[in-house]
Amino acid sequence: MKKRGIVALLSQKGGVGKTTVTMQLAAGLARRGRRVAIGDLDPQESASRWAASASAAAPFPALVAGLRGERADIERALRTHAQGADLILLDCPPSIEHLHTLAALELADVALLPVVPSPTDLWSTRAVERLVVATMARRPALRAALLPNRVQRTGLAGDVLEVLREFELPVLDAALAQRNAYAQSAVIGGSIYALGRAADAAREEVERLVTAVMELTGD
Ligand SMILES: Nc1ncnc2c1ncn2[C@@H]1O[C@H](COP(=O)(O)OP(=O)(O)O)[C@@H](O)[C@H]1O
Ligand SMILES: [Mg+2]
Repeated sequence: MKKRGIVALLSQKGGVGKTTVTMQLAAGLARRGRRVAIGDLDPQESASRWAASASAAAPFPALVAGLRGERADIERALRTHAQGADLILLDCPPSIEHLHTLAALELADVALLPVVPSPTDLWSTRAVERLVVATMARRPALRAALLPNRVQRTGLAGDVLEVLREFELPVLDAALAQRNAYAQSAVIGGSIYALGRAADAAREEVERLVTAVMELTGD
């Protein structure tokens, strides 16, 4: 039987790409035959809205359930909503003080920290990293990695990516560039896989991301 893994997407700020990564990752994992459930822990419900904007002819390839409450409530809800899933992705609110983020981190086998390579994002990533590293000290089985997102080919982005290597957590061997295709897939309620040849470069990035995450979950 395939191992069932829980992957939490965390950040201290909105706009780093937690929801975007969650949805692309879910679609990529589904294409590899994994049954994926998404727990939408963000009260703004972006993941739920994203999936709800899919057409009936092309539904989003993973179930999205809005989950609320404390860890025990979320765990209980997952037993119902994610029954039969091989993998669960938890899309968190943009704050590490939020109850849902803390619950997701406790439940996770893998914590993914999307980070936009800009100085202000680095500062807030330090705070998330501290929390994750402290959690790993208690729970050594927890795996975690930084995931560069919205990477632009500028000197600044290159410098910041260099700085990321000084973080304690490893940088995932996958990164998503700044691309219209990622934003556009939210509009159609799908993923970059539905965008055809125009999204070839994005598809390659997501495929690499899927492989890297499957390695982390031990799939
Ligand atoms: N790699 C990317 N390329 C282009 N736009 C992106 C990328 N990642 C995220 N975005 C855009 O940035 C905004 C914030 O992304 P989102 O996934 O909602 O972040 P979060 O869930 O962390 O708040 C959205 O408008 C999204 O379309
Ligand atoms: Mg979000």
